[in-house]
Amino acid sequence: MRYKSQKVAYWFFALSMLLLTLQLVYGFIMGFAHMGYDGLHSIIPFNTARAVHTNLLVVWLLSGFMGAAYYIIPEEAEYELVNVKLAYVQLISLAVVGVIAIVGYHFNYWEGRKFLEIPRPLDYLVVINVLTFLGLILATLFKGKKRTTTSLVLTMGLVFAALLYLPGMIWFDSQTTDSFFRWWVVHLWVEGVWELIMGGILAFLLIKITGVDREVIEKWLYVIVGLTFISGILGTGHHYYYIGAPKYWLIIGGIFSALEPLAFLGMALFAIAMYRKGEKKHPNKLALSWTLGTAIISFVGAGLLGLAHTLPSVNMYTHGTLVTAMHGHLAFWGAYGMIVFAIITYTLPNLTGRKRYETTNGILAFWLSNIGMIGMTSAFAAAGVAQVYMERIMGLDFGDVQKEIEVHFLVLVICATLFSVGISFFIYEFIKHGLPNDEAIEKVNN
Ligand code: HEM
Ligand code: HEM
Ligand SMILES: [Fe+2]
Repeated sequence: MRYKSQKVAYWFFALSMLLLTLQLVYGFIMGFAHMGYDGLHSIIPFNTARAVHTNLLVVWLLSGFMGAAYYIIPEEAEYELVNVKLAYVQLISLAVVGVIAIVGYHFNYWEGRKFLEIPRPLDYLVVINVLTFLGLILATLFKGKKRTTTSLVLTMGLVFAALLYLPGMIWFDSQTTDSFFRWWVVHLWVEGVWELIMGGILAFLLIKITGVDREVIEKWLYVIVGLTFISGILGTGHHYYYIGAPKYWLIIGGIFSALEPLAFLGMALFAIAMYRKGEKKHPNKLALSWTLGTAIISFVGAGLLGLAHTLPSVNMYTHGTLVTAMHGHLAFWGAYGMIVFAIITYTLPNLTGRKRYETTNGILAFWLSNIGMIGMTSAFAAAGVAQVYMERIMGLDFGDVQKEIEVHFLVLVICATLFSVGISFFIYEFIKHGLPNDEAIEKVNN
């Protein structure tokens, strides 16, 4: 690392890993419940476990993105973060709001809107937290010596993500209108502005690891940003087919969402092309694996598995089934989980000065987690297709169908175990790197 203040990133990454671990615990609770072993039902019913699982996911990813920004922005702007103490206050308040929300869900203190369960009063705390974060990033960028395309795309993604949180906070009496605007947050995040965050981090990593000229890498970024906006904004329509919104969304949503994989394909081709063009001299090969991995798996999970159920004629049958969970897992993991893992793998040796490149544990973490997640996705796919057939085509009762597909959750839990072992290796490596320290400054020159 080049700037002392970059050390803040480490603690955001640490919080991220902690919350991920908790997320997995709740995943297992649901996996067992689906197998018919819902022993914790009276304390943690399925709906609570689900809300905790998905909300922890969002918070560990956000914490990872924030850590990435605290590392990348000073380095790109060539300027220390303007106020390090405030960044730590922001970290602690993020953790506190997260904990209050998660505990609250266990006592039915929640809104019941998938992904946006956080009660409104806590939303205001989230807003203050994110404003503090953005204030620090923007001030550093303005005071800094340079404003690179990479840092601007990353910052633009973060600012838009904050703005798009607001439509989810407006109160509507109509279920349809509420749902309509809920998607402005959920869809426009993952299929819009988060892609900019991903693109920014990806560009930073490719510049550092492949050694290809910044100009070449940043040109690709424009293409990806363009493709994302052209397809992603109107692509929101793929959530409006059957919620009571006007019929024209069937055609608009169908066409534009079918174009969305192009942005992910662009990212995959971009990463592979830069890898092939690069000098392949950087010693942190694992960071390269995670970087290429995120570009490729996100194309499969988000692009291809998204496409699989995005047309109205298919979505009519698959909507809200385990087919959605199949896509949700590989998309979130490939695009946003893996990009966080990539930036952590790249930055840890630089923050701590310990060059634990390519350890066996690190390699195992990469392969086990990815093979495990692909297995989980397959289990959800088998369960989902069977569910759609029995429930939506044969017309069997929801509960009866859930009993029939219990066996697929045995496979899910086995693959999830493999995945979790991979994650444990990653966290073990994280801890083994030790704490960030000032001696690491300039020890590594990139
Ligand atoms: C990294 C990007 C993506 C992530 C993280 C992601 C994740 C998710 C998640 C979690 C859901 C469930 C949301 C809910 O019901 O509240 C969902 C739904 C959906 N996604 Fe994606 N997605 C991504 C990209 C895409 C793309 C590119 C497409 C289309 C090509 C797509 C098509 C769909 C469709 C059609 C649904 C609705 C499923 C239903 O009706 O139940 N997604 N996605
Ligand atoms: C131990 C590992 C995991 C297990 C056993 C697990 C299991 C589950 C189960 C059973 C559900 C509920 C499906 C339903 O509604 O019936 C779920 C939902 C979900 N999980 Fe996981 N999960 C795990 C890890 C992860 C990870 C690492 C991610 C993201 C990177 C993730 C993202 C999601 C999402 C987005 C949903 C909501 C899907 C939807 O909207 O349909 N999970 N998970
Ligand atoms: Fe969407």
